[in-house]
Parts: sequence; C-alpha cells; structure tokens
Amino acid sequence: MDAAAGELRAAFPAGRLVFESERLAEYGKDESDLGTFPPGVVVQVDSAEEVRTIFAIASRHRVPVVPIAARSGKSGGSLAIHGGIGVSVERMNRILDIRPGDLTAQVQPGVITGAFQAEVEKHGLFYPPDPNSLDLCSIGGNVAENAGGPRALKYGVTREYVLGLEVVVPTGEVLRLGRQTIKGVAGYDLTALFVGSEGTLGIVTEVTLKLLPRPRHVATALVCFPDVDTAARAVSRVLAEGVIPRCLELIDDVSVQAIARGSPFQLPVGAGAALLFETDGNDEEQVFAEMARVAGMVQGSASGEVIVAQNEAQRRDIWETRKYLSVALKTLAAAKLSEDVAVPRSRIPEMVARCREIGRAHGLLVATYGHAGDGNLHCNVLFDGDRERPAADAAVAEVLRAAVDLGGTITGEHGVGLAKRDFLEYEQGAEVIALERRVKAVFDPLGILNPGKMFPES
Ligand code: LAC
Ligand code: ZN
Repeated sequence: MDAAAGELRAAFPAGRLVFESERLAEYGKDESDLGTFPPGVVVQVDSAEEVRTIFAIASRHRVPVVPIAARSGKSGGSLAIHGGIGVSVERMNRILDIRPGDLTAQVQPGVITGAFQAEVEKHGLFYPPDPNSLDLCSIGGNVAENAGGPRALKYGVTREYVLGLEVVVPTGEVLRLGRQTIKGVAGYDLTALFVGSEGTLGIVTEVTLKLLPRPRHVATALVCFPDVDTAARAVSRVLAEGVIPRCLELIDDVSVQAIARGSPFQLPVGAGAALLFETDGNDEEQVFAEMARVAGMVQGSASGEVIVAQNEAQRRDIWETRKYLSVALKTLAAAKLSEDVAVPRSRIPEMVARCREIGRAHGLLVATYGHAGDGNLHCNVLFDGDRERPAADAAVAEVLRAAVDLGGTITGEHGVGLAKRDFLEYEQGAEVIALERRVKAVFDPLGILNPGKMFPES
C-alpha cells in the first residue's frame, strides 16, 4: 500500500488525495449500519483517464480499489473492508447534456439524483427512479446498485433508464457500452450487466439516461387500517384488480409508532397501519378517477376515510413522513438492521406475517414497511445493541430465507454488498455464483476491484 500511495502522490495533485484518518473514516461509512471501514487513501477523480491511472497503480501493487459515490448505500457496497484505494467520484458531478428532442441526458456519476430530477423537470421532462435518499444519493451509486424507489411500481428501476455507460475496467480499458438511442439490440447487453454490478466489474464515469415527458398531474392519498395484515391484503386486492398506481407504500404498526414520535404528518389516532398511494398522468380527471378506483378497493377494510392530499404542502408532508421512516425507526431502538426483500405480489401478506413472527420468536421488534406494491418490503429488525446483536442477526437470516422460500429475493433494491453476501447462494445456488465469479474474473482478473462484496469471501 505504501508503494501504491507513493505513486498516487506523484500522479495526482495533493488536494485530491485524502490521507488524514478522520476524513478517511468518513469515506469508510455508509447508511448500512455495518460499521466503519476506511480505505488507506482516497483519490477524488476527475476523469476516466484518472481512474485508468489508479487501476494501473493498483494492479502493479495488488492493492484493492473501492468505488465510492455518495455513501448513502444500504448494503455496504462502498465500504473498504480490505482497505486499499477509495475512488471517489464526488467531483464528477456535472450534468453534461439534456436533450429534450431525444428524451435523453448525459451525466457524470457524481450528479445528485434529486438535483438531476429537478433539472430535467425544468425542461418538462421526468426521470422516474426515486430512491428515498434522492437528496443525497448520486446517479453513479444508483447505477451500481440498480436503485429503485416508490415510483418503481409503475416506472421501473434505474436499469430501465440506463441506455449507455462509459466504464473503466480494472484491466485498463475505457469502454463505451450501450447506445444513445431508445431502441437498440446490438451485441450482448453489457450495459445491463454493469447496472447493479455493485462496483465489482468496473467504475462508471459517464451515464446516458432515458427520460420521459413529465406527467402533468399527480394525486397522493393515505388510508389507515386497523392492522398490518388488513393493509397487506388490501395491497394484493388492488394489484389483482389490474390497477397499477405509481406508488403503493405500506406502513406497518411499528412504523406507525415511529411516525408518532415526531414526523411532519401525523396519522389519525388509533391507526394500526397505513397505505400511501399515488396516481399520475396528463389528464387530471383520469388521475383522480384512478385514485377513486384504488380508494374504492381499499375502503371496505380501512379504519377511516381516504385522506387525499389537498395541496403541494400536504403532499410533501405525507412523503416526508414516508421518506424519513428509515431514520424515524432509529428512535425506537439503539440499533437496527434494515432489509429489502422482495416477494411475488400474491405473497405480500404472508411475508409481512412471517417478518412479525420471526421478530416475536427472537423477542425483537420488527418493522415492515416499504414498496409493498412491487412486493419490496423493508423489514427492519430493531435491537438494543451488542447484547441483542446475535438474535438480530439470526432474525435477519430467517427473514432473508423466508423471502426466498416464498419465491422472492434477498434484495429488491439495496444490493447484496457486504450485508447479504452470505445469503446469495441460498437464492441463486452454487453453480450460478461460480459462473458470476468467472464473469467478474473476465473484467477483474487480479480480483482487485471491490473485493469481498456480493459473493461470500473465498
Ligand atoms: C426506503 C429505503 C430504505 O425505501 O429504501 O426508505
Ligand atoms: Zn426503499
């Protein structure tokens, strides 16, 4: 590492290298609650060419390279668990081009997702992927994790919007993958392979994104239920009727408790669970008609009226309450492990019940909330610190296995990373993992890029 650091000092201006331990510790954290794993040095890169230089140095000295974006990840993908060189793309934060005529945009990986959305909206355009961390997270991280969000129900996840990428691979090539056109089927879909590869195959230095025209009308509503099982069954009922709102979010009883402790929007007293849903389109009447249809389907089992947001401020309050739920839950216990399993839609009520039973069996509080409409549930195991940690780990393992047993997946949007690497085999089997390891070796024969992520440590 010392020899590699010496070469980095010669190749980069001092102002773009971080060596101080306090700052390195900041680069060694994310939102996964897995701990602090600082790199030995961080380089704030400006270009693909600079990433190439770093790979050359790292290859010579067999030093790990860890891509770092906005550090809002939930699965530990950017944690430097084996030290090495952290490659931060924070300076590569320019929107290079927005092309309304093509409905595409070109951006650098460090662009903040929410800022990008606001910018395209000025042109009457729409970038749907909306991870709840959108004020902090960046497009590069979203591409690495194939991030989702509430609107994924109607609009799909990040992969649906990535047309092309510029990536640098550890062997040193700067590759332009994909296309600038909306359609295109030439060659293997390597773009899709890189989206969601969790920084294990290459480092993205430019992204071409697909945009949509911005829907002119949005309606947001919230409805409460006596308990979470009733709410979960209402979700299944809506989807079985063939209505796909743009969002359909579940808030369970434990989440209701967290919200009561000071979120901007207070749920009606006595609510045991809630659903937040949203419809959109260009025709206002149609948007409200769809909302009324959903309301009609859930009202029978609800514990009160459907509350429709009357203005932008109320809409914002409802969403802030949902957006910061992950943070609000931290007020209920000293620590939490937050999962993002996804199950087939028909199994949502079963998965919700399983999470609760698992919590009960381990004597732990478990909150289950999230993007219920697409079966993607944030099961959060709350615990009191070191003493309860083994029970929390055991509960998480059972939650992940339960999701797979119901025909689902261990991660719907946060990625495997460090958090779930020991469970990938349970979902995919040893043969598939062996093949995936061979794919990685094609791009990264020395195994220097983000080692110890996604796959169990070998
Ligand atoms: C959310 C994050 C945790 O949906 O994915 O709140
Ligand atoms: Zn989520």
